[in-house]
Amino acid sequence: MSYLDSDRPKILVVDDHPSSRMTAAALLSVEGYDVIEADSGVAALRCITQVNPDLILLDVMMPGMDGYEVCRYLKQDEQTRLTPVIFITALNDRRARLRGIEAGGDDFLTKPFDQLELSARVKSLIRQKRLNEDLDHAEQVLFSIARTVESRDPNTGDHCERLVVRSKTFGEFLNLSRLEIRNLMWGGYLHDIGKVGIPDAVLLKQGKLTPDEWDVMRQHVVIGEQICQPLRTMRGVVPIIRHHHERWDGSGYPDGLMGNDIPYLAQIFQVIDIYDALTSDRPYKCAFSAEESLEIMAEEVKRGWRNPELIEQFTQFIQSNVEETASVEAMQDKEHVFVD
Ligand code: SIN
Ligand code: FE
Repeated sequence: MSYLDSDRPKILVVDDHPSSRMTAAALLSVEGYDVIEADSGVAALRCITQVNPDLILLDVMMPGMDGYEVCRYLKQDEQTRLTPVIFITALNDRRARLRGIEAGGDDFLTKPFDQLELSARVKSLIRQKRLNEDLDHAEQVLFSIARTVESRDPNTGDHCERLVVRSKTFGEFLNLSRLEIRNLMWGGYLHDIGKVGIPDAVLLKQGKLTPDEWDVMRQHVVIGEQICQPLRTMRGVVPIIRHHHERWDGSGYPDGLMGNDIPYLAQIFQVIDIYDALTSDRPYKCAFSAEESLEIMAEEVKRGWRNPELIEQFTQFIQSNVEETASVEAMQDKEHVFVD
């Protein structure tokens, strides 16, 4: 094994037959894994929260909670969804395999175990899981940086949290796909992450910025793009980060894009961002009412800065009160931001 002893991968073997468990445990121990055993679905779920295994070998047919049910449960839970599950099925049981795939299983093995096959599958799934975890950690790091930036920025307060909630409710109002809504919500957290590269003298400056200081401040969209670009899961979020200060008539930054050349999610996000800035207290201004804010945004349409159709939809959304009830639910539901 290439793993250090302290980092030996843990495998949970779930089977109601003691002899099957023992065979699997013996084979896996020889390979250098730490093996934990559970004799039922319920015992497995209890064990998983305590042990956090790297892989689960799961028998399909068990009294009480069967393997499919255990697997479905694990794959719906944010904490365990990345833990690979190998179903143990009878030889050539096609139906069991189909059900296993439906339940979110990652692979199948048949009894009696073939040592080489077991070893190869387990090894490859654990490697994959560790890569996925690193990716998840990379995302978490970005969200942490974004939170730190937000706490440095005197203008924001709980701005990002509110953007995330309204991204969900407005995204649903517009019938966006689940992935688009997730991207908008991530945009809520990450759009200004590039401010990490803006010096305090500019970011924290009281009073108006000089033209040179504005040039520095505008860099935040490009810096943000560079930070998030390398992550595959950020692909749909990067255009929001780069383009959230463009304007419909081409007078925005960084690219001076016009009309629908501005990525649609960036347009939507910008509307939400501006509305939140208008309806919140800032060091330099008091909060405007919803009505006043919508009037200001309508003025910005007349100036050519915003997409008229989108502002119309946003106005309907705010006035329809859908928001009031939906946003409370969305606050409770917000953890789904990490499910895609
Ligand atoms: C910001 O993104 O919050 C500040 C920069 C700007 O308003 O253009
Ligand atoms: Fe910004």
